[in-house]
Amino acid sequence: MISKLQQLKENALAELQTAKTEDQFLAVRTKYIGRKGLLTGLLRNIAQVSDAEKPLFGKLCNELKNLLNDKIEEELQQQAIRNKEDVLLKEKIDVTLPGSVIKCGRIHPVIQIRREICSIFASFGFSVVEGPEVELDYYNFEALNIAKDHPARDMQDTFYIEDNIVLRTHTSPVQVRVMEKVQPPLRILSPGRVYRRDSDVSHTPMFHQIEGLLVDKGVSFGDLKGILTAFLKKIFGEGTTLRFRPSFFPFTEPSAEVDIRCVMCGGSGCRVCGQSGWLEILGSGMVDPAVFENVDYDSEEYSGFAFGLGLERIAMLKYGISDIRLFFENDIRFLKQF
Ligand code: PHE
Repeated sequence: MISKLQQLKENALAELQTAKTEDQFLAVRTKYIGRKGLLTGLLRNIAQVSDAEKPLFGKLCNELKNLLNDKIEEELQQQAIRNKEDVLLKEKIDVTLPGSVIKCGRIHPVIQIRREICSIFASFGFSVVEGPEVELDYYNFEALNIAKDHPARDMQDTFYIEDNIVLRTHTSPVQVRVMEKVQPPLRILSPGRVYRRDSDVSHTPMFHQIEGLLVDKGVSFGDLKGILTAFLKKIFGEGTTLRFRPSFFPFTEPSAEVDIRCVMCGGSGCRVCGQSGWLEILGSGMVDPAVFENVDYDSEEYSGFAFGLGLERIAMLKYGISDIRLFFENDIRFLKQF
């Protein structure tokens, strides 16, 4: 029995020598000192050992069991340390490598212009209000003195939702909505989407406008000129030349369109300004007394001016963009230039 034990010890140690992986060490442990292991089996047969040899045999068995246990335990610990080192080595971060660039979104050029204009007018004391895009015929047309047979109401221009409900064709209805609720003096600015059945290089069915309205006692056309001149010089540069050209809008009287010297050719005439040397920038005028009457303002006591401008048009001129549709294609190569 003792020589059997000796043989078993040699075998076990030899197997431990060749074992490499965690699984292999565990297999040796199971094979020799597991519950059904070889050494365990030998101990179970201790009855076959002579009484004189029993103490020695028991002692040797226990020694071998402890030896194998210790060796395997130590190997497994070593193995765990090596595994950890392997992982650390593989996961090493090379801080000298260039980092990966984080792609960052930008503010859409139309919204950039909107913010710029709103902050210029905020410095003039105007506050921002918004109105609905789905609008009653009354606010979009009627209250603004746009008669039933006015060409702007034509099915060709206006998107109708129902007989008396439209997608607003301009931001001017907000003027009426504000004046119905608020008594003068007031200075408001109203940015938003507007809709017209139109589509080519300079028109899209949806575009953005900003409406402005100032009402107070003693407001004159000189105030309109002063504020709009200050605004246009801020947005296009101090050196900007402008002209006020007589025009017509049903809701303002007198009305003027404002042009700036062509930003492309400087006034000598080019394709962008249609050889005229001037670019039309906004519509404006003194609020028509008929509009005041619709909101119960006393036009003997109060006067005011209003203006409206297209944001895409301003952005196109400021950034030299020739096709308005680029704003809405959302091509990342276009958007990331702003
Ligand atoms: N609503 C007009 C348009 O869309 C612009 C405008 C606004 C004109 C206010 C005068 C006063 O063309």
